[in-house]
Amino acid sequence: MLKWGIIGPGKISRKFCQDLIKVDGMTISAVASRSVDRADKFAQEFNIPNKYDTYTQLAQSPHVDVVYIGTPHTFHKDHSILCLTNKKHVLCEKPIAVNTSELQAMIACAQENNCFLMEAIWTKFLPSFKKMQQLISQEVIGEIKMIQADFGFAGSYDPNSRLYNPKLAGGSLLDVGIYPLFLSHSLLGTPATIHALGNISPTGVDASAAIILKYESGALACLNSSLEADTPIEATIGGTKGFIKMHSRWHESRKITLHHKNETIDSWEFHDEFLGYKYEIEEVGKCIQKGKVESDRLTHHFSLNLMRTMDEIRRQIEVRYPMEQ
Ligand SMILES: NC(=O)c1ccc[n+]([C@@H]2O[C@H](COP(=O)([O-])OP(=O)(O)OC[C@H]3O[C@@H](n4cnc5c(N)ncnc54)[C@H](OP(=O)(O)O)[C@@H]3O)[C@@H](O)[C@H]2O)c1
Repeated sequence: MLKWGIIGPGKISRKFCQDLIKVDGMTISAVASRSVDRADKFAQEFNIPNKYDTYTQLAQSPHVDVVYIGTPHTFHKDHSILCLTNKKHVLCEKPIAVNTSELQAMIACAQENNCFLMEAIWTKFLPSFKKMQQLISQEVIGEIKMIQADFGFAGSYDPNSRLYNPKLAGGSLLDVGIYPLFLSHSLLGTPATIHALGNISPTGVDASAAIILKYESGALACLNSSLEADTPIEATIGGTKGFIKMHSRWHESRKITLHHKNETIDSWEFHDEFLGYKYEIEEVGKCIQKGKVESDRLTHHFSLNLMRTMDEIRRQIEVRYPMEQ
């Protein structure tokens, strides 16, 4: 049994654990919160035997092999390093760090301690994403020329919320824009040219961002993210022989359709009892069993390139966080 510890029992940790308790070979052994009450409540909900009211206690716990970090972005670096230096493997929520220099320090720490580290971009491991990548490698849509992907929702404006607070690295790009960027990086690699515009909230973070990427191959990607507009949350990958649509919400897609040039359509649906985190959990388990420090499917290099693109977009839209001043 691989023994998991959970740091930061918030919204996403709760969803993650709903899958984790159902995955073979995995057990949730410990949870840590800054509050004893929150740790108790979470431990009760998921029947977790060990609970701590500091993250350090969990990082040092003999009951833990691998830690899931579900705290806000600005703590990912310190919490990952805390766990890695205590010889714990780490699955860290996206974005894995706030910027490239933070991520470089995390990767160096994973390597020094010979521990596994991966960014929790769960989309990468979903059956729908795998199918889409398979169709593309079979050249069913020919050469990719255009990717369109969005992730927006109209939330209420609260300057103190995680999403709008610059001290917690708020903004649409790092929170949801990372998904469209992940898609284009997965299919086309590192862009040659990046153009971005943002709508900046009174707190100084991007309420919306619109991004155009151009690749050496001539392919383009039009991507956007928003905390202030409802958007379809769809992705289309357009090629010289047709296109693939990942249906809403595409980052957790349960349906993809393939539109051939002759206007015929094939479609695939993916349904199971899991929310979708199961597949990244299984990947973590396999990698740890093999003694790896990174996944071949979601490498450190990939996360670094993605982070570099986000750094450049933030430079262009002039979003700089207090800890970067
Ligand atoms: N993969 C996905 O689908 C997905 C979805 C949503 C979010 N996320 C990512 O997961 C991370 C957390 O998001 P969330 O929506 O779950 O956040 P959240 O509900 O606010 O939970 C974050 C948790 O972190 C802990 N924390 C530690 N220091 C904190 C601080 N100074 N302020 C606030 N919380 C602090 C809190 O737990 P205690 O105080 O109890 O320790 C809190 O419950 C973000 O990086 C986000 O991008 C991923």
